[in-house]
Amino acid sequence: MAEIKYSFGTISITEKAKKLINEALDSTRVSSGKYVRLFEQLFAEMNGTKEAVAVSTGTDADALALAALYDFGAEWGDEIIVPALSFVATGNAVLIAGLTPVFVDVERNTLNIDPSKIEEKITEKTRAIMPVHLMGKPAKMDEIMALAKQYNLEVIEDAAEAHNTYYKGKQVGTFGIMGAYSLYVAHIITTIEGGIIVTDNPDYAEVLRSLRSHGRACKCTSCVVNTNESECKKRFAQGEDIRFIFERYGFSSKMNELEAAVGLGNMEVYQNIIEKRRENLLYLIKEFKTFKNYFFTMEEEEHEKIGPHALPIICQDNVSFTRNSYALFLEQNGIDSRNMFQSMPTQCPQFKRFGYHYGDFPSTEYIANNGIHVGVHQDLNREHLDYLLEKTDSFIKKNS
Ligand SMILES: Cc1ncc(COP(=O)(O)O)c(C=O)c1O
Repeated sequence: MAEIKYSFGTISITEKAKKLINEALDSTRVSSGKYVRLFEQLFAEMNGTKEAVAVSTGTDADALALAALYDFGAEWGDEIIVPALSFVATGNAVLIAGLTPVFVDVERNTLNIDPSKIEEKITEKTRAIMPVHLMGKPAKMDEIMALAKQYNLEVIEDAAEAHNTYYKGKQVGTFGIMGAYSLYVAHIITTIEGGIIVTDNPDYAEVLRSLRSHGRACKCTSCVVNTNESECKKRFAQGEDIRFIFERYGFSSKMNELEAAVGLGNMEVYQNIIEKRRENLLYLIKEFKTFKNYFFTMEEEEHEKIGPHALPIICQDNVSFTRNSYALFLEQNGIDSRNMFQSMPTQCPQFKRFGYHYGDFPSTEYIANNGIHVGVHQDLNREHLDYLLEKTDSFIKKNS
């Protein structure tokens, strides 16, 4: 492969993060503690929610949010409606939570779940709709929330790729009962590996705190064990030690102090990261219009503010080249890209048992077979973007 001139992702590890990491290491308190609590508090404030619960990964954020439904009436195996097009983690999370994914095709122009196709998939066993705001483009929340209300379903948003994303003036992740974010390294705020769930509902937050720690009865917002405070008043209040009462299905999914320190450092530079990434994204969306006979990407509509996660680039019908030949050409020229995600129900083997057939999800399959995405991150400048545009132009000239 050629030397990388245009990278897919980056990470900003600030001086503050390094200082906090060293402090945590020196304190020997490196598993979940005060930095995780502070990170949760700041993340909740940023989202305007009452609570945020930090976990190990974005996949766990999805899975724990779904598993929380058991405390509020869901039964093992109940159905969750998800888009057919997403990073495979969305569908895997439904399986991990012990629930059944029911897939709905997406719209080609938004890449998101097609609300007009949801109703036909609702059954007696449906418990929730889990829209994904793919590539930071908000899903159609008005239609989704109306359907959820009509059929008494919960909405859990997979906002893994949608930090700082707005739909009709409201931040996505806050429409449903819970919103689940990934904090993986390629994402806008990162803890290297990590995830976080936001909610306004303290009962759900409490269940999430229990779920991330093996289903323990011990689920305070912050723990006094291993601090200088006095003993835990709740520990033996029920007779048994609540740290060893496991009151529900559980995961082992805590965030540690070192990860939270990286996240706290990121928060300091968050506005700069967002501004730079949005500038890059909007420039590429505008400039890609020149190639509209060959490629399409997403559009920012008036009612929304796209979260600058990455730029999808999808080949138009009937072009005389393939997605793979374009991706290979970019790679040979030092431009790192990722293929678009597969159609979970028809291209990922773990969902075969649900009986879908290739062709059931035409828009999803089209995007999956014909799309790539490239970074818009904060370490890319105008020269990088122009290089991508120039190479795309020469690829088209050579291949059409
Ligand atoms: C839409 C979506 N959901 C879930 C995840 C899972 O996040 P993680 O990689 O942090 O487990 C990702 C990861 O990028 C994602 O893109």
